[in-house]
Amino acid sequence: MPNDAFDRILVTSALPYANGPLHLGHLAGAYLPADLYCRYQRLQGRELVYICGSDEMGAAIMMRALAEGGNAQDIVDKYHGMIEASFRVFGMSFDYYGRTTSPVHAATSQDFFRTLAEKDVFTLKTDQQLYDPEAGIFLADRFVRGTCPICGYEEAYGDQCENCGSSLSPTELINPRSTVTDATPELRETTHWYLPLGDFQETLEQWIDTHPEWKPNVLGQVRSWFQDGLKDRAITRDVPWGVPVPKDVAEAAGVDAEGKVIYVWFDAPIGYISATKEWAAANGHPDRWKTYWQDEGTKLIHFIGKDNIVFHCLMFPAMLMAHGDYVVPENVPANEFLNLEGRKLSTSRGWAVWLHEYLHDFEPDLLRYALATMLPETKDADFSWKEFQARVNSELADVLGNFVNRALTFAHRYFGGVVPELLDPSDLDTDVLTQLAAFPNTIAEAYERFRVREAVQETMNLARLGNKYFNDAAPWHSRKTDPQAAANTIHVSLQLCASLAVLMDPILPFAAERVRNMLKLDGVRNSDAGVRHGTIGWAEAGHSLLPSGHTLGEAEILFTKIEDDAIQLQIEKLEARAADVATEAAPAAPYEPLKDEIEYDDFAKLDLRMGKVTVAEPVKKSNKLLRLEVDLGFEQRQILAGVAKQMSPDDLVGKRVVVVANLKPRKLFGYESQGMLLMAEDRDGRLTPLSADGEAGGVVR
Ligand code: MF3
Ligand code: ZN
Repeated sequence: MPNDAFDRILVTSALPYANGPLHLGHLAGAYLPADLYCRYQRLQGRELVYICGSDEMGAAIMMRALAEGGNAQDIVDKYHGMIEASFRVFGMSFDYYGRTTSPVHAATSQDFFRTLAEKDVFTLKTDQQLYDPEAGIFLADRFVRGTCPICGYEEAYGDQCENCGSSLSPTELINPRSTVTDATPELRETTHWYLPLGDFQETLEQWIDTHPEWKPNVLGQVRSWFQDGLKDRAITRDVPWGVPVPKDVAEAAGVDAEGKVIYVWFDAPIGYISATKEWAAANGHPDRWKTYWQDEGTKLIHFIGKDNIVFHCLMFPAMLMAHGDYVVPENVPANEFLNLEGRKLSTSRGWAVWLHEYLHDFEPDLLRYALATMLPETKDADFSWKEFQARVNSELADVLGNFVNRALTFAHRYFGGVVPELLDPSDLDTDVLTQLAAFPNTIAEAYERFRVREAVQETMNLARLGNKYFNDAAPWHSRKTDPQAAANTIHVSLQLCASLAVLMDPILPFAAERVRNMLKLDGVRNSDAGVRHGTIGWAEAGHSLLPSGHTLGEAEILFTKIEDDAIQLQIEKLEARAADVATEAAPAAPYEPLKDEIEYDDFAKLDLRMGKVTVAEPVKKSNKLLRLEVDLGFEQRQILAGVAKQMSPDDLVGKRVVVVANLKPRKLFGYESQGMLLMAEDRDGRLTPLSADGEAGGVVR
């Protein structure tokens, strides 16, 4: 059951790997919804800490270091800086943004590991694993490539074949090669610690059963893990980058700790705890992290993307339960994936919109709003630039911006820039004020149930209500016929603007502040991290916030529309990037150099004839040769062609081809080859037979 009696909320967003910049897919999964939720809760006056940081250990970082040719520390320094900066500009309101290379994190995860080892939670297993003798490291997961035993794809990774999707273990690969040195690996014996997740299955199932309110996509995935049965998970690795396995623990187990690190999926979630410790220390209350992690009054919420479900709903909770001192998550509102322009987002294919690039071209609020309307909350969703433009132009500019602007300019033009008095309100006026009073609760309910799209929709409905009311009341008419009616309309409209300046704050923190400045609305609680100021919060936002006679500030344009050209530019940029990556991925080989000059007589020695392939079949025991029968009109020839790797017999049967007809016969695999076919070979090795329409036997010259 949802825990409604809590004293404080601890919110986390998945720690992004510091191995590349952030893109829209990241934001839509674990970050934007969490930030809206936190800002909303802070406006409610709830005690809340929002934690995130960079995930800087593990194989993903090492792979990047290999690709970029730097060392792992340089890579994480570079991307941690980039990620943190773009999060800040985007308006993420983390109370603390840490990193898992910090000393506090190393100590915290080692302590955690030690406690579980002392409680005898782990099992130890020794087996044979691939080892790169040149680099002197074991080749876990993506550090090895080879031929997929299922489909024959030659570039399969040790953990997965990207061609057929099979999940693999490194020792299953045929012809394995190290991705580090290209060396052929050897098998070596190694010992690792395992978390026996199976032992926790019953407890985990009972716990999950108490949360029927979790999102169906999350419960569905969790149940299917249960159905397959939870398995032991290795939680140490032999790689040179990670939090070292504590020496004392290894010694007690009789294992050589040299080169052994804690698996990144064991240390990274502990990063939430380490970062909370650092937050507490930085704020002068070094013990306060315990209140958040160890006191039952805490409601712990993990925002993640769907690929992280197993770790946050099963593995980390099992770790927390095994440890015994910690609270377990109250909810894990995982989002599905975001597609881009109808295609699967892929950084390796260049199909992504990068946050830092977006922020270079547009305001953060526009993306916060547009993306929040498209979140993949219940199923995968699609982001398109056209949809982005439509949301900005027809909702932010035409509805929200327009309403605020109309109310304010009218107040300045006809009421001297002060809030007019509300006297003898009409039914319409009071009805709108009654409707306004209900908005904070309606929106709040959506946030509380992690339905962020709905919350955003409801918030925009308040601006829609304002616009409609302004149109219906038509103060530009009543101003002349019934000035008090016009005054009432402006009074009520300004109250709607003031409430919007609070309720829109989680979604549009920058624009909300500008509206507050335009209204000179002081005393609104800040939704950013840090100490709360202000007495006006969520609960107050249903009431009239501006007293009659209150002096307003200047009106400004809140949102400008985005032109078609600007959107076209973004679409072209995206497509150009994807095209670049596609050519980069397959760099064209150099053209073959020309041979030495010859005399015409040299050429005339060749007897080239048109022929027609009548039979084509593989040659037994040869993976290179096809046996062809070719009709030269005046006679039949048997020709062996070394094309079996590039062509199938079907590609050749019935084709008119050019044959070198006076080549001395030779024997291949027991067959006599009586000539040769001419082929064009592309730089990437693709073959096309030379063909012409002439009759069989015709001379080619
Ligand atoms: N870095 C991981 C990812 O991007 C997420 C880590 S979440 C944590 O998928 F809990 F482990 F920190
Ligand atoms: Zn495969």
